[in-house]
Amino acid sequence: MLDEAPAINPAGTRDRLGRALRDLRVSVTDRCNFRCPYCMPSEVFGRDYAFLPRDEILSYEEIRRLASVFVGLGVHKLRITGGEPTVRRGLPDLIAQLAALRTPDGEPLDLALTTNGSALRQLAQPLADAGLRRVTVSLDSLDDETFRRMNGVDFPVARILDGIDAARQAGLGPVKINVVLKRGENDGGILDLAGWARDEGHILRFIEYMDVGTTNGWRLDEVVPAMEVIESIGRDWPLEAEPPSYPGEVAERWRYADGKGEIGVIASVTRPFCGDCTRARLSAEGKLYTCLFSAVGHDLRDPLRAGLSDEDLAALVTGVWAGRDDRYSERRAAATNHLPKIEMFALGG
Ligand code: GTP
Ligand code: 5AD
Ligand code: SF4
Ligand code: SF4
Repeated sequence: MLDEAPAINPAGTRDRLGRALRDLRVSVTDRCNFRCPYCMPSEVFGRDYAFLPRDEILSYEEIRRLASVFVGLGVHKLRITGGEPTVRRGLPDLIAQLAALRTPDGEPLDLALTTNGSALRQLAQPLADAGLRRVTVSLDSLDDETFRRMNGVDFPVARILDGIDAARQAGLGPVKINVVLKRGENDGGILDLAGWARDEGHILRFIEYMDVGTTNGWRLDEVVPAMEVIESIGRDWPLEAEPPSYPGEVAERWRYADGKGEIGVIASVTRPFCGDCTRARLSAEGKLYTCLFSAVGHDLRDPLRAGLSDEDLAALVTGVWAGRDDRYSERRAAATNHLPKIEMFALGG
């Protein structure tokens, strides 16, 4: 059954900087089976770490309900994240519910998943059958030793590559591959990754290591600037700049001059893109964050559980969005200071 969202505010709400609300990133869990040091360092997120208890996490039905309210407000892209979304049981059930949503114009949503890829061999087909359209897999190195170190749990790279194949076989391609670059850790593997992705037909994106959260000990000198990556790849395989595929796209796109695909760079440190940031984030516990670097979220779970109508929930979201003036990355670029904020895995990276 299709589930058309009520057109609560078809004109679209704008924030204080004139930005519309177009994308919703939904975190379905704050847990992860990896311990990437730039995200959940194992010294901090050990055995005793208190993740959210089950009753504090939104149920799939609650996520669907909130997502439909956001869709009524103009959201047309839903990205499922975590933590690691595949560690939550029954993920295809959620995908099926979200895939049935339609915009007020009757259009299907752009429904995507960001995952570390460790469960794709088992889950890619059920997710595709449920209506998932595409996946983005985080993969920081093709070198087994480097990859095992960077995921913090000694997970072999071969299993991620197999998961990526499973995604492609299930029709979820072209698969996007996210690489977070950290100077001295994995920047030696840039060309290997580029050559592999060219041959396999995956869309590779290099992400500048960001100062998300408070635990990763971020240092500016560990960031590998996006332009350095482009220059280095371009020396072997000439590249040409491509226009964005949609307004507000996070990745800057570059096309191989020989026609063998494209790569992207996500330069949120050296070239921040807050100016057209249309993204909201819904955390696993039902808080709305208007920026990846927000220190506080706005609770939607308790109002939802208290029985608010779709219209009242929409009014709540609209009010939060209307007050939004976030542009953390631009301010960081201007000041390189440290503002209070919470962990990325907790609010839906
Ligand atoms: P596409 O729809 O495929 O273009 O996906 P996407 O690039 O929006 O999503 P993805 O989850 O692959 O995001 C890539 C990475 O970009 C994230 O993991 C973050 O590291 C970074 N990123 C995404 N959104 C934001 C944002 O709003 N602000 C900042 N600073 N970084 C972001
Ligand atoms: N800087 C940049 N990207 C990060 N990610 C997680 N932590 C960071 C960080 N500190 C990326 C992951 C994944 C996506 C959801 O966020 O690699 O691709
Ligand atoms: Fe897990 Fe992704 Fe964070 Fe790594 S970056 S610890 S895979 S949520
Ligand atoms: Fe959007 Fe905040 Fe990222 Fe800027 S820093 S692009 S406002 S999420």
